[in-house]
Amino acid sequence: MGLAYFEINGGTRLRGKVRISGAKNAALPIMAASILCEGEITLHDVPNVSDVNSLSELLVRLGVDVQRQSDGALKLNTRDEMNCKAEYDIVRKMRASICVLGPLLAKRHRAQVSMPGGCAIGDRPVNLHLRAMEQLGADVELVSGDIVAKAKRLRGKEMFLGGPFGSTVLGTANTMMAAVLAEGISVLEMAACEPEIVDLADFLNKCGASISGHGTPRIVIEGIKELHGCEHAVIPDRIESGTLMVAAAISNGEITLENARLDHLMAFVDRLAAIGVNVEKSKEGGVTVSSVRRLEPVDVTTQPFPGFPTDLQAQLMALLCLADGNSIVTEKIFPDRFLHVAELNRMGARLRKEGPTVIVEGVKRLIGAPVMASDLRASAALVLAGLAARGTTYVNRIYHLDRGYDRFDEKLRSLGGDIQRKEGDED
Ligand code: EPU
Repeated sequence: MGLAYFEINGGTRLRGKVRISGAKNAALPIMAASILCEGEITLHDVPNVSDVNSLSELLVRLGVDVQRQSDGALKLNTRDEMNCKAEYDIVRKMRASICVLGPLLAKRHRAQVSMPGGCAIGDRPVNLHLRAMEQLGADVELVSGDIVAKAKRLRGKEMFLGGPFGSTVLGTANTMMAAVLAEGISVLEMAACEPEIVDLADFLNKCGASISGHGTPRIVIEGIKELHGCEHAVIPDRIESGTLMVAAAISNGEITLENARLDHLMAFVDRLAAIGVNVEKSKEGGVTVSSVRRLEPVDVTTQPFPGFPTDLQAQLMALLCLADGNSIVTEKIFPDRFLHVAELNRMGARLRKEGPTVIVEGVKRLIGAPVMASDLRASAALVLAGLAARGTTYVNRIYHLDRGYDRFDEKLRSLGGDIQRKEGDED
């Protein structure tokens, strides 16, 4: 079977307006939280990406009815609570499946989730998720590659959630989802502050939970007996916003983003400003990004929110390839998340990796080439490089990109980008 690939002819300036979709990384844990609720949940702005489809498939197996309405809303209803097992065939496709662990354990008193393996961006252990479940009173063991967790009723606890590197996003989501139905009060210290965690807490509160402090490193949760359904709109995808901001800058274009939140992208916009890219709120409430001048080199280090997001590291690096001087990019969240480096070098970039750091020597131009996508954000960086490159770029294995970008090629085409999705054997 041929795999889909993109053919991109670089050099056009992107111009126009584009609407940002809802955030994949907010939608996934919120969808998993449906396991906790009695009654119907209606979610707006759930992006049309393959990770959402994978999680829907898992939820259906777990007895949740998942329906996409004609207006795009997603309706979720739990019909059957018998199955508590997330099997390897889905977990290995999508690590975020781990976020059914907390809800299954809290609501059904038992969870069996296949242990996620390694992935392209590094080891990605789940030890902190498991430690938190144990602290809430669960028995947790590893049986033939599956995490098996059991508890009659979880008990609230004051606990430290962090690891040596900082906080964990999905670990915080899992713990929050488990603690909402626990008996008593839980205090989560060194909780992740990412906007996706705030959105999950807002969703759970609408369903009747009692969570406060979300958005800070100290979240307090008063356990309750039952959650009901609710209607909720998922926050805009800050990573899609940032990616399209780079598309404007790298193509010397001007793009207005609708449904984008600058307060979720402060560190990123700060780096864009230092590079010389204009980012302004437009009168109609959108955000306009433009670039016409030479790009300044900058240094950037990825950090937990509100620091610079690891999920935009590859895309910013594509832009820095064309800056007038040397930049330094340091990855503090996933030190091995540099699969794009060798591929960008195939396009004429001058990148040198030294441990968790890449030295980017700016070049005058990138040149189109066949390249291989390896993970979601690395793929986006290669597409961005292709938009700026002289000649034709073929980005292979775009199924990685389809996991997390909602109609990315369509949106770029609507802005004037010369990008075509093709089916074939370019592998
Ligand atoms: N970590 C541990 N033990 C754990 C959990 C995490 O050591 O039990 C380490 C990780 O290895 C990493 C650091 O903690 O070094 C942070 O990882 P985190 O747990 O925060 O990552 P995650 O929750 O698994 C989410 C996003 C990722 C995003 C990271 C960091 C989802 C579905 N995934 O992953 O998104 O890069 O937070 O912001 O929300 C993407 O969308 O492309 C993506 C990879």
